[in-house]
Amino acid sequence: MRVGVIGCGAIGSVIVEAVCRGEVKAELVALVDRYPEKCGELLKKCSKQGVAICKDLECLVNARPRLVIEAASHQAVRDYVPQLLAKGVDVVVLSVGALLDEELYKTVLEASKGSGARVYIPTGAIAGVDAVKALASADIKRVVLRTYKNAKAFDQATLKKLGFAEIRERTKVFEGRGDVAVKLFPANVNVVAVLALASGRIPWVEVYADPALSVNVHEIEIESEASGIRVRVENIPHPSNPRTSYLAALSAIRLLKQLSEDAYIHVGT
Ligand SMILES: NC(=O)c1ccc[n+]([C@@H]2O[C@H](COP(=O)([O-])OP(=O)(O)OC[C@H]3O[C@@H](n4cnc5c(N)ncnc54)[C@H](O)[C@@H]3O)[C@@H](O)[C@H]2O)c1
Repeated sequence: MRVGVIGCGAIGSVIVEAVCRGEVKAELVALVDRYPEKCGELLKKCSKQGVAICKDLECLVNARPRLVIEAASHQAVRDYVPQLLAKGVDVVVLSVGALLDEELYKTVLEASKGSGARVYIPTGAIAGVDAVKALASADIKRVVLRTYKNAKAFDQATLKKLGFAEIRERTKVFEGRGDVAVKLFPANVNVVAVLALASGRIPWVEVYADPALSVNVHEIEIESEASGIRVRVENIPHPSNPRTSYLAALSAIRLLKQLSEDAYIHVGT
């Protein structure tokens, strides 16, 4: 499978390294970043030949990927995903919060329907999405996400705007609808969108900044006719990006393995 990766940051690097050491059976054909030198540095570690380093869609498409992994930003989802789908290229989306924008969601869906190309959204930095998908047929009444991260993991200008210029102890910096949380903290709560798309409901979200915290914590509560579920995930932040959990990259790698291998036995839903 010929693959391209958009975003040579924390998640993109872990994915590219997995492809380079053969853990994912795929051929890397293109890397994209608004700072292409980051892709060059990444390729040095990987000793792959003939990988296109791109700054735009045209260069990426010319490399003829079968599947592209977006691990960049909400803007990158807008700039690349509908166009790739329209050209029949499957896409894995990590910056999934972008899809809570109804207009972009519709554009992506139409592009996918038009060409038959697929959009894959990995579970990412949380757990329990299998059960949430199953419960979507059993009248889910409530979906709550509580996210706790070190204060440094948040955009400081946003915290300031919300009236939290200096945080000395665990502080609730947001409580409200998930779509509002995603707009305020696009780089921190992509998992809101995963839960929304899996459950068919916009989650209620609480966001906490805590200067003493060394892990990224997501707590999920689901109430439905069939089950009540409580999930707590404590994630090790990626060393080069404290906002991002290592689990998010591992989740994408697992998805890529599924897509690139012809497995006879499939576990989980
Ligand atoms: N789904 C999840 O569970 C989950 C978890 C963590 C992070 N994320 C999201 O995944 C994405 C990648 O995370 P990361 O930690 O690797 O981020 P990062 O900041 O470490 O790396 C992102 C890279 O993408 C590049 N980039 C950003 N916008 C671009 C654009 N429009 N065009 C080209 N290049 C662009 C940046 O220059 C950077 O090199 C982010 O949007 C993040 O919010 C999702």
